[in-house]
Amino acid sequence: MSGHGTLERVELGRGGPVVGVQGLGCMGMSEFYGETDESAARATLDAALAAGVTLFDTADAYGRGANEEFLAPFVAAHRDEITLATKFALERGEDPRHRGIRNDPPYIRRAVEASLRRLGTEVIDLYYMHRRDPAVPLAESVGAMAELVREGKVRHLGLSEVTGAELREAYEVHPIAALQSEWSLFSRDVEDSAVGAAAELGVAFVPYSPLGRGFLTGAFADAGKDLEAGDYRKDQPRFTGDNARANAELLAPVREIARARGASPAQIALAWVHRRAEVHGLTVVPIPGTRKPGRVEENAAAARIALSEAELALLEPIAARVAGDRYPDMTSTAVAREE
Ligand SMILES: NC(=O)c1ccc[n+]([C@@H]2O[C@H](COP(=O)([O-])OP(=O)(O)OC[C@H]3O[C@@H](n4cnc5c(N)ncnc54)[C@H](OP(=O)(O)O)[C@@H]3O)[C@@H](O)[C@H]2O)c1
Repeated sequence: MSGHGTLERVELGRGGPVVGVQGLGCMGMSEFYGETDESAARATLDAALAAGVTLFDTADAYGRGANEEFLAPFVAAHRDEITLATKFALERGEDPRHRGIRNDPPYIRRAVEASLRRLGTEVIDLYYMHRRDPAVPLAESVGAMAELVREGKVRHLGLSEVTGAELREAYEVHPIAALQSEWSLFSRDVEDSAVGAAAELGVAFVPYSPLGRGFLTGAFADAGKDLEAGDYRKDQPRFTGDNARANAELLAPVREIARARGASPAQIALAWVHRRAEVHGLTVVPIPGTRKPGRVEENAAAARIALSEAELALLEPIAARVAGDRYPDMTSTAVAREE
């Protein structure tokens, strides 16, 4: 065993795997956030395991399979120490802008075989449906996912960006261990219905982009200018133009709390997400993404920061003031189907 860090361990959903209370998002190691140094990314995986992180998050769409392939040697070296999570549903072709959503059972079967091959493993610990295609009955898709559990290809099921009603509907077909959706100081729409449903069903919540894709770390004074060419965030509504400048100002209380505690803004943003577990009465395992080994310990330490009621009150108004949507096209998110 090499995962001897001090992160608390929790059950990821009723009957789910036991994992460190903070996971690692691996997406940026292959795509979206600019150039990646492969050896630093590999060192980040090792540093995470050493810090007690056991939930490693990827998807077949990240780098069009490259992120799963990148993880394969790490998976081979630590197969029994980690909880390996991947996803299907975002179909990508040669055209980098094409993003189809596929939830039909034959597609799911092809997708799982391809992910298993790229990851070099016989079983995926947690298999998520990345996005919902409302044209395909949810029971059909979750039924096909349940079949994979029966066949031993997958251990637990997860969903991403579904509404509370969809989560309940899916749960009737097969237990769902985790709901992965965006949740951070900047993105709180999941609190409208998904969080309550997850708490009631005993489904764990895995907040993705808990650092607001890096914005909450305070790295972007004027994000549109600070991002390098080719960075996916250059086209995101919150990172561009007047929105970016206005959103940067919203970080004042995050910076103030960080300064007073001798912590970083990233740690305060993560501590706020961890605290959601107590506030809403459910298991919360955020998956911050980083490619830098030096940031792993910093992020993990945030799980141990207990923000006071006064600090939480300072952070409370932020989300309602954020300028710009989470995505340029919101149609495949839960909030779009709840309107
Ligand atoms: N289900 C979905 O639809 C979905 C969507 C998006 C993401 N995800 C998953 O969620 C994971 C996390 O989300 P994310 O990567 O989009 O966003 P995030 O975790 O909110 O932020 C990642 C950004 O923050 C930076 N960062 C991390 N720790 C830092 C620290 N301590 N100080 C300063 N900067 C820091 C990273 O830069 P460096 O890498 O340079 O450290 C990166 O630019 C992804 O990796 C992916 O696995 C899922």
